[in-house]
Amino acid sequence: MPFDWDGSGIHRVYDAAREMRDETRRVWVEDLRARFAGREPRRILDVGCGTGRHTRLAREAFPEAVRVLGVDPSHGMLAAARSRDPSGCFGFLRARVEALPFASASFDAVLLAMVLHHVPAPETAFREMGRLLAPGGLVYLRTPTRECVDPTSWQACFPGARRIAERVLPRRERVRSCAAAAGLRLREEASVCGVFARGVEEYLGKIGARAISSLRQIPDAEFEAGLRALTRRCRELPETHVFEERIDVFVFAPPTA
Ligand SMILES: C[S@@+](CC[C@H](N)C(=O)[O-])C[C@H]1O[C@@H](n2cnc3c(N)ncnc32)[C@H](O)[C@@H]1O
Repeated sequence: MPFDWDGSGIHRVYDAAREMRDETRRVWVEDLRARFAGREPRRILDVGCGTGRHTRLAREAFPEAVRVLGVDPSHGMLAAARSRDPSGCFGFLRARVEALPFASASFDAVLLAMVLHHVPAPETAFREMGRLLAPGGLVYLRTPTRECVDPTSWQACFPGARRIAERVLPRRERVRSCAAAAGLRLREEASVCGVFARGVEEYLGKIGARAISSLRQIPDAEFEAGLRALTRRCRELPETHVFEERIDVFVFAPPTA
């Protein structure tokens, strides 16, 4: 069963727990700029924008953009995104990646960040994103893959969440083959490392907020037990330990670009 974003209430804690540290945001802003080097996208769509984390990041990477939109099916996530955009600098609309309500060839950059593993039909998603690309446009996919899972991370203390991750996260090869089947050409692929938390307190605070969907899907008792185990493990680390997170990036172009 797909994760119930609105029913879970995750939007109430998402920003507090998943907001990137400045240093990590800079890594991703630079990554975006590097992948679009020489293209300067003017019309940008952030698909599955959630609370607008990457919508804002895209604006920071490309301040000259004239249109930066985010779409998401979750009312709660969209409400959180809009609350952080009082001047209406972005547009946030309700839509799913499988049916994007835009004309073909109407965007220079289409972003899909931390969403692919929630989409039941990834091929359809790639086809739809590819349809929206204007000449020279690119799809920028930021996604955890099975290969990114670090068995020694917090997941070691939450076996139920780890099983969910293993079930839903695609392997890199599946990402490539779905995109290829949808007619997209892989231009670049990388694994990007950023700081998830600096220090044990911040780390436990982020995991404890339960703003990761797999942690919402396990029973409360299992979550509490996992958090206690993680806290014991973390107490053996220096208080200032740096926790990193590795996420994969794939950049796709239409076949002729
Ligand atoms: C982990 S959040 C990521 C949100 C945002 N991109 C970020 O990185 O903070 C996953 C988001 O995917 C959205 N989502 C789930 N299924 C989707 C679909 N079929 N099409 C578009 N978005 C979807 C959820 O509503 C949720 O906001």
